[in-house]
Amino acid sequence: MLIKKPPAWRMPEREATPEAVFYNRRRFLNSIAGGAALLAGGALVSGARAAAGDPSAGRYPAPRNLRFRLDRELTDEADAGTYNNFYEFGSHKRISEAAQALQIRPWTVTFDGMVEQPRSVGIDSLLQAMQLEERLYRFRCVEAWSMAVPWTGFPMRALLDFARPLSSAKYVVMQTFNDAKMASGQKQFWYPWPYTECLTIAEAANELTFLVTGVYGKPLPKQFGAPLRLATPWKYGFKSVKSIVRFQFTDQRPVTFWEKIQPQEYGFWANVNPKVAHPRWSQAEERVLGSDNKVPTLMYNGYAEQVAGLYTGMAGEKLFM
Ligand code: MTE
Repeated sequence: MLIKKPPAWRMPEREATPEAVFYNRRRFLNSIAGGAALLAGGALVSGARAAAGDPSAGRYPAPRNLRFRLDRELTDEADAGTYNNFYEFGSHKRISEAAQALQIRPWTVTFDGMVEQPRSVGIDSLLQAMQLEERLYRFRCVEAWSMAVPWTGFPMRALLDFARPLSSAKYVVMQTFNDAKMASGQKQFWYPWPYTECLTIAEAANELTFLVTGVYGKPLPKQFGAPLRLATPWKYGFKSVKSIVRFQFTDQRPVTFWEKIQPQEYGFWANVNPKVAHPRWSQAEERVLGSDNKVPTLMYNGYAEQVAGLYTGMAGEKLFM
């Protein structure tokens, strides 16, 4: 018989518990996290590892922003933390152990291109300048699986204020590190490293666009793209670039990582649309990570109200691949 461990982050408890009580309880749980990690194994171990030696660990858990809620149960931490796409560490899903080779301190983030003043800052100085909050977001991969996760981070709008792009900038290009000694997947020369993704400035300024520094109430484990990754929940997951080292502002739309590799299948916009099939499979449904359930995929992954307006008058563009 299959015995399923109840997920630690089950939604009903979070919805039912007053926030202050909830966070006090979580602080208590965090204080015994070392013991829990030994018992629970897997992703919890890497969550505890993520906190160890991370100068920002004291910022977690961050207060939850109640404006970003979900209609479904959160994905179990162990499932989300052991089924990852991070090609720098291998072109399969079980990279969570290999990703522990990622060195996340020191970590410098550069802002350049069309900005008032190019600059580079250490991740901890950047985090000091940002107010962290937790948001519950859906996540839909282009491969037709999905999860629901409690990200911690800050709105990308705050990062735009910090970076001060020129008004003539139209896009922000985000780049992952490039270090084949640390990340053996980057020895695979047929991929166009470093991983890059891009948003328009209007997309980056949308209230949903979030820069992630933590998950499940802890600093981000490495396999999720520590110490800084993107979350754009209305877009397919490949837009959520991990382990960002550079934000470059430009007025030219670049060709991004997957678009370079397979332009017939992966485009610039990558907005979720159940009615537009991938050339090799339907996008009408999604497999919910950690279960055998399939659920219908929603237009813009359920976020049409917040984002559909970004794309008015763009009918000629391939908005959904
Ligand atoms: N970012 C980098 N740098 N490298 C990657 O391989 N994979 C992308 C995206 N960001 C990827 C990346 C893809 S295809 C997906 S679906 C998500 O990360 C997976 O995020 P997760 O592992 O947290 O589920």
